[in-house]
Parts: sequence; C-alpha cells; structure tokens
Amino acid sequence: MKLTVLLAALTLGVADVSGHYIFQQLSAGSKKFAVYEHIRKNSNYNSPVTSLSDNNLRCNVGGSSGASTTVLGVKAGDSFTFTADVAVYHQGPISLYMSKAPGSVSDYDGSGDWFKVFDWGPTFNGGQSSWPMRTTYEYTIPKCIQNGEYLLRIQSLAIHNPGSTPQFYISCAQVNVTGGGSASPSPTVKIPGAFKATDPGYTANIYNNFNSYTVPGPSVFKC
Ligand SMILES: *[C@@H]1O[C@H](CO)[C@@H](O)[C@H](O)[C@H]1NC(C)=O
Repeated sequence: MKLTVLLAALTLGVADVSGHYIFQQLSAGSKKFAVYEHIRKNSNYNSPVTSLSDNNLRCNVGGSSGASTTVLGVKAGDSFTFTADVAVYHQGPISLYMSKAPGSVSDYDGSGDWFKVFDWGPTFNGGQSSWPMRTTYEYTIPKCIQNGEYLLRIQSLAIHNPGSTPQFYISCAQVNVTGGGSASPSPTVKIPGAFKATDPGYTANIYNNFNSYTVPGPSVFKC
C-alpha cells in the first residue's frame, strides 16, 4: 500500500518535470492554425514560471523574441481561441492581456504597457467552487483599440497548491489589428510588476472557506 502511494508520487514527480500544459495553438474564427503558428514557442518543457519578478512572465521562457514567429492579421472585434495541448488541470484563473508593440511585434519584448482583455474566474455554487479548466479559451479582440501590432497573451495562474508558490503558464501570440478605433486602453500594468505576493488572488486557499475571489492583475479594459 505504502509502496503504491510512493510509486504514484514518483510517477507524478516525473510527469512534473517533463511538462504540464501549454497554450500552443491559435484560431481566428473557425480557422485553426498549426501548433506554434503565430505563437511564440517556449523552451521550458511546458514548466511554469514562478518568480513574480521574472521577465519570462511576459511571454514564457523562450518567448522574449518573436523573430521566428509569424504575425496573424485580425480584425478588431473578431474572435480568437487559444488551445492548450491538454486541458488545463490546475485550478486558478485564466486571463487574457494585450500589449501594443512600439514597432514590429516580432521585435517586441513585452516591456511596455499591458492591459487586461478578459478573466475567467471561479464560479461559486452552494459552497462549492469550480474553475474553467478546459482546452480552449475563446474571446474577441476589443473593438475599439487602435490598429497595429500587439502581443496577445494568455495566462493560467495555478493556485491549486495553497502554501506553495503559484505557477504561471503563459503563451503570447503575435497579431496585427485592423479595423480598430482610437481608444487608449487602461488601466495598464508592466509585466513583471502586475502581480504581487500579497495579492488576495495569489495567496487564496481555494480549499478552505473559499467563497469569493479576485483575479490578480488590473481590472479588465472595456471598450
Ligand atoms: C499590419 O497591417 C497593416 C495594414 O493592413 C499592414 O500595412 C502591415 O504590413 C501589417 N503588418 C504585418 C506585420 O503584417
């Protein structure tokens, strides 16, 4: 019995090292692109980023440059989908962010201003919480943002293990927005910097008296 538990733990440990999950595929409307097409490829075996001061929080390890990544033309207001290799299996919020490149997005390291496009948080029902853990996350490019090249970033913040360091699973797509408006989205944040070790949504114990939740980061920008 004890040996079985130990073996199960060891197996889990091995799975841990070889990777968790990664948002590796982008769709525009009903068109699904190839794995890592328009998405910066990570180089960390799908391991999470865990330091709140790490520049890799922007676009994951290996994602600081988009020189080898193509740019997808999208219309403001159009829908897009991030698809993960396996369904997200750690509890925690999923968020979408965008940051406008000062020039070409392929050259952009994500050091500028980011605004939040959407949050998927928990739902509470009769003392139970449930999280949006799935393979695909669909939303729309905000209708009012200015034309130009942007990083489009998805983040799964894994807070499944209270007391341990939360984990960030991140991917950035490169998009070129047309048909937009003139809005300057706000509030904006820098990454790293947007998430603090004291954020209630970072320290939350999701198994103990858990009946409300605030997703870390700025409020969602609405057109
Ligand atoms: C972005 O779209 C504009 C307007 O259509 C175009 O001039 C520009 O070349 C595009 N940039 C990229 C990288 O596709």
